[in-house]
Amino acid sequence: MSATIERTKMPHTVRTMTKFLRMCLVLIVATSTIAGAATAAESSVALEVPQIDTSNKKSLQRGAQVFVNHCMGCHTADYHRYSRMAADLGLSDEDVQNNFIFTTDESGERTKVGSLMANAMTTDYGRQAFGVVPPNLALTARSRGADWIYTYMKSFYLDEGRGGVGVNNTVYPGAAMPHVLWEYQGWRKPIYGEEAHKTSVITGFEQVTEGSMTPKEYDNMITDLTNFMSYLADPIKEQRHRIGRWVMLFLFGMAILTWFLKQEYWKDIKK
Ligand code: HEC
Repeated sequence: MSATIERTKMPHTVRTMTKFLRMCLVLIVATSTIAGAATAAESSVALEVPQIDTSNKKSLQRGAQVFVNHCMGCHTADYHRYSRMAADLGLSDEDVQNNFIFTTDESGERTKVGSLMANAMTTDYGRQAFGVVPPNLALTARSRGADWIYTYMKSFYLDEGRGGVGVNNTVYPGAAMPHVLWEYQGWRKPIYGEEAHKTSVITGFEQVTEGSMTPKEYDNMITDLTNFMSYLADPIKEQRHRIGRWVMLFLFGMAILTWFLKQEYWKDIKK
């Protein structure tokens, strides 16, 4: 009796497993196709890949310095607090209060270290000055990706056709943001290649005025900045990895224990 049950049960289990595996395969293929299509639609420019490392605290500190000095006048990152940034980046609260906070609140008081990383620019002013409100940058490394930010910050060029802004960007054509780091990179104008679809393709840049940094130094600064923005978008990542290592170790230990337990249970039955 038990033998027949065994025989009828087995093929059913196998069938269910095959079905399950097939479903997994379909899901994997479908998600990778959708993801591929979504990335392809993002930008027509080949994005550069920076060597970022969110566990490198020195790089994050340098990136934070650039961010608070040059970006927070217009942008906010107010899902995040300065005090959290201090703790994560290995800085003291006093250090952050004195060297990383340059914004004021609505009443004109200097922002405190426990506050959110906001600025005093109102939505109306932003719209008036730039036509669009400078977006919150706390999650941009997730929405746009680190490669996008890195390449964007390296792709500003002079464009007389842009009126007031005077610059354009190959990664984000028609962006309302000025080239805020021009002093470091210097000004560049585009080199046009072949015409395609009635518009000239930009194939490179020509340096018009020198910046205070060499191209290598500028790249390093943008790498640090991108690293910091990646940290902002996922501040818990390092902690998750740390806990993850212990969880893997625990599972490994448990697997060994379970194996011995199984041997123990089956010892008498197998006989
Ligand atoms: C003078 C104001 C100003 C400053 C300073 C500034 N930005 Fe912007 N930024 C803007 C505006 C305005 C936009 C919106 C552009 C648009 O959508 O056309 C923008 C857009 C962006 C975007 C695109 C966001 C998205 O998802 O669309 C990124 C990334 C960005 N800025 C990064 C930076 C960084 C990094 C700095 C500091 C180095 C910085 N910005 C400094 C005004 C500014």
